[in-house]
Amino acid sequence: MLIKRQREWELPESAVTSESFAFNRRAALAAMGGAVLGFGTIGSARAESVTKMTIEDPGYSAGAMRFDPGRPMTPQKNVERYNNFYEFGLSKDIWQDAQTLPVEPWTIRIDGLVEKPFTLSFDDLIKKVKVETRIYRHRCVEAWAITVPWEGFAMSDLVKLAKPLSSAKYLRFTTFADAKAMPGLAIPFFPWPYHEGLTMAEATNELAFMGTGMYHQPMPKQDGAPIRAVLPWKYGFKSAKSIVRIEFIKDQPETFWEQTSPDMYGFWANVNPQYPTLRWSQARERIIGTDETVPTVIYNGYGKWVASLYAGMKQDKKLFM
Ligand code: MTE
Repeated sequence: MLIKRQREWELPESAVTSESFAFNRRAALAAMGGAVLGFGTIGSARAESVTKMTIEDPGYSAGAMRFDPGRPMTPQKNVERYNNFYEFGLSKDIWQDAQTLPVEPWTIRIDGLVEKPFTLSFDDLIKKVKVETRIYRHRCVEAWAITVPWEGFAMSDLVKLAKPLSSAKYLRFTTFADAKAMPGLAIPFFPWPYHEGLTMAEATNELAFMGTGMYHQPMPKQDGAPIRAVLPWKYGFKSAKSIVRIEFIKDQPETFWEQTSPDMYGFWANVNPQYPTLRWSQARERIIGTDETVPTVIYNGYGKWVASLYAGMKQDKKLFM
């Protein structure tokens, strides 16, 4: 099947280049001989025509495409060989190193403000939820983008299983951390383990997803096996990989990237092309596996589903960093 039409969320042309993830300890990194992250400049406005996007569907159902990816899927090889998984190092080329991630057995602890804290195995969890495929665009804060057919289940199913108390207002995700398997944990100034958070309203939004596979296969280790968050309207760093604990809490949690670089990355991290980071523009994104860049769209084009979550809030930079 080939669908070809202009999408409602495609914006007129605007500016700029893609960049690399950055944090404020560059000197320390360089001193320890780690990978040197690129710090870019903001490029100049370019005038080129907006590329008409297409979906080529190699056997995905209408259900899988109900959130209108509006772009061709990224070739599997690109998604699996271009990763951010800092526990394995700062380069994008960690897919081989990540094969040391021990995924069996895998347990997830659910605790905090819930009726009864519990731990369950990944295998048991999968039996309790409805697994489906969803094709989503994923926009990294570094201004690159992929489109992925994820397998997994609605995050709201997990919230239901957890039976949170009414006092629970946020979720905090903690991910696997073992220095023996993960050389990146030796990078001293990162506040390991990687941790992220969401409001309850975000976690129970229809789009919020727990990814357990991609391209009809179990989640590759480098992409966050066996279970990760998938939040297509937010910058990719919100989508914590290899989750081992979910706590239900009263107060907004401080996140890994907020602690690392508070002037660059915040709690909300909703995609918005109008708010550059301190170091680069977010106006455009580079489509991995192609030589194209296209305009970025607010909420990564998913505003129809999520804009109402933020309706009463101050629409300032904080909501979009
Ligand atoms: N989760 C953990 N545990 N560690 C990480 O370094 N990187 C985040 C996010 N989740 C990260 C993580 C970032 S910055 C992005 S863009 C996505 O994972 C990348 O997912 P991908 O490699 O599957 O494309």
